[in-house]
Amino acid sequence: MRPRIVAGNWKMNTLTASARELAKAVVAGVQGIDGVQTILCPPFPYLGVVAEAIAGSSVALGAQNCHSEMSGAYTGEVSAPMLLDVGCKYVIIGHSERRHGMHEADALVNGKLHTAIEAGLTVILCVGETLEERKAKRMERVFERQVVAALAGLPRAALNRLIIAYEPVWAIGTGETATPEQAQSAHLYIRSHLDKLYGISTTPILYGGSVKPDNAAALFAQPDVDGGLIGGASLKAADFLAIVRAAKR
Ligand code: 13P
Repeated sequence: MRPRIVAGNWKMNTLTASARELAKAVVAGVQGIDGVQTILCPPFPYLGVVAEAIAGSSVALGAQNCHSEMSGAYTGEVSAPMLLDVGCKYVIIGHSERRHGMHEADALVNGKLHTAIEAGLTVILCVGETLEERKAKRMERVFERQVVAALAGLPRAALNRLIIAYEPVWAIGTGETATPEQAQSAHLYIRSHLDKLYGISTTPILYGGSVKPDNAAALFAQPDVDGGLIGGASLKAADFLAIVRAAKR
């Protein structure tokens, strides 16, 4: 059975005290919620603070990005080995806010994915269409391009270090969520494509984009939705925990 996963992407939010407080509230709240892997992805400066707050709990640490090289003269960048060193197991790669806001192309996403997996991290690879692409009914072509480009050259065995997050760009931070049916049809398409390419249909696929306590259960009830990548609602412990609970089978 595929695992259930809920990851909080805090984006560029929190400071030391609020990061610690939020992480501790999540640790306290997930006790007694079995069968859901909870992941927190704070900003780089607070990875250590959050690592300390979640130590000894079932909550895992993830980062929001990493560089495509293992080390070197890349001022201001953070490498995958550094993330492992400070306690990360996961890293988000290819988030639309980086693809669109920071001009990260598919080839760069591919380089980052290779390096992160080689370093020993599990990658949460984000894919998703813009509103324009959805209106033009080009979603499937977009998924194919993003998935094929991101995974190019990756050995089949590396896919056990991969989680995919389907995040329609039009649903991120907009309050407009994909309907459970829209999410299911995108997830099924992505899963079938992975099956076609690699003969693997067990990759966890998370939905992201305005997931809230009141819509999470319906999304997670879809057969190909294995959990969520949560932005805004992950900044409030009570909301995030309600979403984690909704992911329980
Ligand atoms: P929101 O939940 O704020 O829409 O953000 C989703 C997201 O981008 C998670 O990575």
